[in-house]
Amino acid sequence: PKTPAQQLRTILIGPPGAGKGTQAPRIRDEYCVCHLATGDMLREQIAKKTPLGTMAKKIIDAGELVSDDIMVGMIKDQLENNKACKNGFVLDGFPRTIPQAEKLDSMLETRKEKLDSVVQLQIDDQLLISRITGRLIHPASGRSYHRQFQPPKTPMTDDATGEPLVQRPDDNVDTLTKRLVTYHTQTGPVVDYYRKKGLWTGIDAAQSPSVVWDNISKAFKASTPKS
Ligand code: AP5
Repeated sequence: PKTPAQQLRTILIGPPGAGKGTQAPRIRDEYCVCHLATGDMLREQIAKKTPLGTMAKKIIDAGELVSDDIMVGMIKDQLENNKACKNGFVLDGFPRTIPQAEKLDSMLETRKEKLDSVVQLQIDDQLLISRITGRLIHPASGRSYHRQFQPPKTPMTDDATGEPLVQRPDDNVDTLTKRLVTYHTQTGPVVDYYRKKGLWTGIDAAQSPSVVWDNISKAFKASTPKS
C-alpha cells in the first residue's frame, strides 16, 4: 500500500459489466481510499426498504437513472462524513451525467481538492451480455463473482463469509439492453467532459482482470497525485 501521505482521487467510468466493481475494491485497498459505489448505496436502500429504496428499485429495474439531486446528495454526504475518504476516493458509477460531473467539480472546488484521473473501462457491448448474465454478488459486501470467469470456491457461496450469492434483478438481457442505451446517451458525454479537461485515460477492459489492474496502476502512476 501507498504511504497515507499520497492521496488519490479517481473516477472509474464504464458500461454495466465493464469491471468497475471488480477493480475498485483493489484500488481502495492499495491506496487506502474510500470506494463510493452509487449502485451499491442504492441497493442498500432497497434492502432496507426505505422510501428512497422503493423509488430507486423501479428506476433501476427499468434501466434508467435516479435523479441527479439524490445522487449528488449521497456523494456529498460521503465526502463530508466518511472518514475513510480522508486520503481520497475511487468513485464507481458516479458521475453518470453532465450535471453530476459539474456538481462534483463544484463540491471538490469548495473542498480545495482536485481529481487526479478519470479511467474509462472500454469494452464492446456484445461482450457484456455474458458478463452480466453470469454475475453473482454477495449483497452485504458488494463482492462480485462470475459463474465461469471468476467462480467462487463453492458454488453460490461467498468465499470470505460462506454466505449465499445472488443474482441482481437488473442483470437480465432486457434491462441490460436499456442500461447500455442509458450509458451511451447519458454517460458518453461525461467521458468527453473529462477528456477536454485532460484527465481521461482509456483502458481495454476486455482483457483479464489482472491485466486490467496492471493498466489501471500504470494510469495512476502517470497522473501525478496532488495532495
Ligand atoms: P451500478 O451498480 O453502478 O451498475 P452498472 O454501472 O450497470 O455497473 P455494474 O455493477 O453492472 O458493472 P461493473 O462495471 O461494476 O461490473 P463488475 O465488476 O461487477 O448501477 C445500478 C443502477 O443504479 C443504474 O442502472 C442506475 O439506475 C442506478 N444508479 C447508480 N449510480 C447512479 C448515478 N450516479 N446516477 C443515477 N443513477 C444511478 O463485472 C461484471 C461481471 O464480469 C462480474 O461477474 C465479474 O466477475 C466479471 N468480470 C469483471 N471483469 C472481468 C474481466 N476482465 N474478464 C472477465 N470477467 C470479468
